[in-house]
Amino acid sequence: MQRLFTKLCCGVIALFCVTAQATPWDKLSSDQLEQQLTKKFEQGLYSPKGADTCLMCHKKSEQVMAIFDGVHGNMSHSESPMAGLQCEACHGPMGKHNRGGKEPMISFGEDSKLSVSAQNSVCQGCHNDTEQMAWHNSSHNLADISCADCHQVHAAKDPALDRLTVNDTCTSCHTREKADMNKRSAHPMKWNEMTCIDCHNPHGSMSESALVKPSLNDTCYSCHAEKRGPFLWEHAPVTEDCSACHNPHGSVNEDLLNSRAPQLCQQCHIDDGHAGRVVAQGGQNAFGAGKSCLNCHNQIHGSNHPAGSSLQR
Ligand code: HEC
Ligand code: HEC
Ligand code: HEC
Ligand code: HEC
Ligand code: HEC
Ligand code: HEC
Ligand code: HEC
Ligand code: HEC
Ligand code: HEC
Ligand code: HEC
Repeated sequence: MQRLFTKLCCGVIALFCVTAQATPWDKLSSDQLEQQLTKKFEQGLYSPKGADTCLMCHKKSEQVMAIFDGVHGNMSHSESPMAGLQCEACHGPMGKHNRGGKEPMISFGEDSKLSVSAQNSVCQGCHNDTEQMAWHNSSHNLADISCADCHQVHAAKDPALDRLTVNDTCTSCHTREKADMNKRSAHPMKWNEMTCIDCHNPHGSMSESALVKPSLNDTCYSCHAEKRGPFLWEHAPVTEDCSACHNPHGSVNEDLLNSRAPQLCQQCHIDDGHAGRVVAQGGQNAFGAGKSCLNCHNQIHGSNHPAGSSLQR
């Protein structure tokens, strides 16, 4: 490789690079592009010197060079692209691309004109283990999200794999959840103490909303085990669906509540079954003031007290 870097310095090739700056294949339609790339694959004209050839023109880009800091640039890993076809394992055979970059290569991410399924199939050529099984039916796949929308392979550290940056990766598209997590009451996501992938599998899962556990409640129990019970006196909505009362992403109300008592309770308990409303001392109405219904029904997640049937103790 060293020898070719030296060669780069002798102006001829450098000049070649400078004169061919315009993105050459951006005028092709997606179909034409796919046809050309298919043809290139049939011809199979890989560069005889692999990455060295590519780097003659592309080594000036820090982003391109950063692949050598990550796992895909690791030559000593036997299954890594760098140990095989190198750059062309992902970008396809060079063909005549080196004649000024005019012949297309496979490109990735938002700006690529190549269909998302074609881009993803490159990655899936190597990544087809069980972790990827749910991907096929995931909302992300069905919404044409590409692997490269979340992952950066030309980087020392892929931001999707770093707990301190993964929330940013997700909220770059999920703006509603971004707004929610900054509300008054939220899981500690804005400090990255918790992440979206504590609850969701980004590659999809068998449960609703791609949750990491088989059900919504199981997902919550994995950290809030004390809410699982069993309780002598259960509160039906709690055992069925925590999200009946809580928004896991955040809320303007305390305790991630969808709304405040009494409204929260009155969605279901229209007729709340109190024949005569008790008015506490000092004219304070125990039904409206303070914690409202929770002034008395404070065991809202269930009670183990023998006389706790109305969730008061
Ligand atoms: C002789 C110079 C040259 C060589 C050798 C070369 N390229 Fe290029 N490449 C270019 C030019 C010029 C462009 C288009 C200009 C641009 O947009 O950066 C380009 C564009 C690309 C792009 C698209 C970048 C984008 O903006 O989407 C990829 C991917 C690429 N080359 C990969 C490779 C790979 C892989 C190799 C080796 C197999 C290679 N190139 C070899 C000159 C070269
Ligand atoms: C594991 C697959 C993979 C390998 C191997 C790979 N690339 Fe890439 N390349 C990508 C992806 C994906 C992108 C889009 C940016 C990103 O996700 O980091 C990209 C982007 C690029 C770009 C466009 C960058 C820009 O400025 O927009 C160029 C040029 C490029 N690669 C060249 C190369 C060269 C040269 C090599 C070999 C040294 C190489 N790639 C190896 C997957 C790969
Ligand atoms: C030629 C095979 C090959 C291709 C093509 C390939 N990868 Fe990989 N990838 C690997 C290997 C090998 C590893 C390391 C796995 C390991 O160590 O267990 C890896 C690891 C990863 C990791 C984990 C990185 C880490 O630091 O742990 C991610 C994410 C990834 N690849 C994404 C992609 C994406 C996105 C693409 C398509 C743009 C892609 N890969 C294309 C072979 C490949
Ligand atoms: C919505 C964003 C997103 C998309 C799209 C995505 N990933 Fe990931 N991927 C992640 C995150 C986040 C992790 C880290 C998961 C963890 O740490 O539990 C990850 C982990 C990985 C890993 C390393 C962990 C492992 O499974 O061994 C590989 C490899 C990988 N992804 C490949 C892919 C491939 C291939 C695609 C496209 C088919 C893809 N990813 C699409 C976000 C995404
Ligand atoms: C490039 C944009 C993009 C990125 C980045 C992204 N998503 Fe998505 N996500 C979507 C789209 C589009 C949908 C489908 C439409 C919708 O529900 O909004 C979706 C759907 C979802 C769903 C609903 C799943 C279902 O089955 O109902 C969840 C959960 C989700 N994403 C979580 C994540 C997480 C976690 C991350 C970060 C690791 C992430 N997303 C990153 C675009 C993105
Ligand atoms: C504490 C667990 C938890 C965390 C953390 C979490 N979610 Fe969710 N998410 C859920 C649950 C549970 C649902 C289903 C909620 C429902 O249906 O009301 C959901 C639903 C979603 C949906 C689908 C929404 C819809 O309307 O269909 C998206 C998109 C989503 N989450 C994205 C994210 C993103 C992005 C993050 C990180 C900022 C994140 N989630 C963090 C638990 C969580
Ligand atoms: C990965 C662990 C984890 C999971 C999974 C999880 N939580 Fe939490 N939850 C926390 C942490 C950490 C806190 C903050 C505790 C604190 O601040 O003292 C919290 C706090 C809460 C709070 C109180 C918020 C406040 O303002 O004090 C509620 C309500 C809550 N979670 C509901 C849920 C629901 C509903 C689910 C399932 C959709 C869930 N949690 C899943 C870790 C988790
Ligand atoms: C019927 C509505 C309702 C349902 C359903 C519900 N909660 Fe709550 N939750 C509340 C209310 C109300 C509070 C505030 C309690 C207070 O102020 O005394 C609360 C508070 C919390 C808190 C913070 C205070 C504490 O007790 O630790 C956590 C954590 C929590 N809920 C988790 C859950 C989980 C997990 C589920 C599902 C198993 C769930 N909740 C289902 C109404 C509900
Ligand atoms: C999503 C609907 C829903 C919400 C919201 C809800 N409940 Fe319930 N609640 C129920 C159901 C269903 C039962 C079981 C009724 C039955 O068995 O007849 C129940 C039972 C009760 C009981 C015990 C009644 C009995 O029959 O012994 C009390 C007390 C109660 N709820 C109070 C509250 C309070 C206080 C709130 C607000 C913090 C609340 N509930 C919010 C649906 C809900
Ligand atoms: C001052 C205390 C107090 C307040 C405030 C209060 N309750 Fe009650 N509630 C009770 C008592 C005591 C019972 C048991 C009554 C009985 O057994 O006849 C009860 C019973 C119930 C029951 C069960 C009724 C039945 O048919 O068995 C429900 C549901 C209920 N309350 C909901 C609510 C809701 C919703 C609110 C808020 C709007 C609320 N309560 C506010 C004291 C209170």
